[in-house]
Amino acid sequence: EKGGHPHFMIKEIMEQPEVLANAMRGRILDDGSIHLGGIKPLLPRIAKASRIIICACGTSLHAGMVAEYLIESMCRVPVEVEYASEFRYRTPIIKEDDVVIAISQSGETADTLAAVKLAKEAGALCLGFVNVVGSSIARQTDAGVYLHVGPEIGVASTKAFTGQVVVLSMFALALAAERGTLSKEELASRGLALRDSTKLIAGALANADKAYEMAKSFRFAHSFLYLGRGFNYPVALEGALKLKEISYIHAEGYAAAEMKHGPIALIDAFMPVVIMAPKTDPTYDKIKANMEEVAARDGCLIVVTDEGNDEFDSRAEHVLKVPESPEWIAPLVYSIPLQLLSYYIAAFRKCPIDQPRNLAKSVTVE
Ligand code: F6R
Repeated sequence: EKGGHPHFMIKEIMEQPEVLANAMRGRILDDGSIHLGGIKPLLPRIAKASRIIICACGTSLHAGMVAEYLIESMCRVPVEVEYASEFRYRTPIIKEDDVVIAISQSGETADTLAAVKLAKEAGALCLGFVNVVGSSIARQTDAGVYLHVGPEIGVASTKAFTGQVVVLSMFALALAAERGTLSKEELASRGLALRDSTKLIAGALANADKAYEMAKSFRFAHSFLYLGRGFNYPVALEGALKLKEISYIHAEGYAAAEMKHGPIALIDAFMPVVIMAPKTDPTYDKIKANMEEVAARDGCLIVVTDEGNDEFDSRAEHVLKVPESPEWIAPLVYSIPLQLLSYYIAAFRKCPIDQPRNLAKSVTVE
């Protein structure tokens, strides 16, 4: 059942190209148009929303943060992303023309479910982006889109995260089409680029050996810092969460520019700093400046960048390469080497990867 792999987690990492293709099958047509049956009749209402509020926990929250970048850039609607646990207890202001989106792999997370109830009481339209069919959140939301990535058994979420990002990307494109915020040509080419992202993900997975080698060097590290900007800021948070969960190594994710406001004090030769540097990111030069800040303090730099970019080969301790992708697709591609790095480090440390201590797959208590 693990498909010849030692753990469900690595099986689920490796099967991402196939399961994400399944998640997009019939939803992105050959002309690049998007068809999400569950929400199609509601698109006119969603298009009129003055605000979209996304509620989730853990990894699902990180997918929601990617969605904030996707929806604001493509659809020009304000998006708020909040931990469901904070949202529900701060007497949030929810208006009837708001759209609340709950994101959850299990569909059973207590805090996320409570946020759904609150949103419905306030009269907002509530959508669920959930993996488990028939789960509580799927049932209690007004409509939604299933991830369709198959059952996720490993406690640390991997394919559900990329599945959420894929579904949220399709949602953003469908909404942009409805709102007329992207041209027909742009919509078509983005739809097809999203469908083709599975090839880029497969390309990133093909470089697993490099992540394995790196994991060997870093298995005794006490702490990691993950830095990203823009679309890759949530990827940095997710990379850090994944490492903490399964390897029990402390890790923090930060928006790269925030480093100088505090965490830079931590930098020394012993703390690996993983920094995402896609050439297609409009802040690429700023990312390079952030790298220099680390290098100038003898920090141990691990750069994740695009294949064909040799700029860092002699300047960083390690370079992980992934296929080049458009800025908005980068989170799907850049999260792959981080998943692999966490997995291999935990494997070298002989951690119980599929069932890390103190964690449960579905968090039904608040
Ligand atoms: C991380 C992880 C958790 C979940 C969180 C939300 O690997 O598994 O952080 O993402 O508990 O769970 P769902 O998505 O089921 O609501």
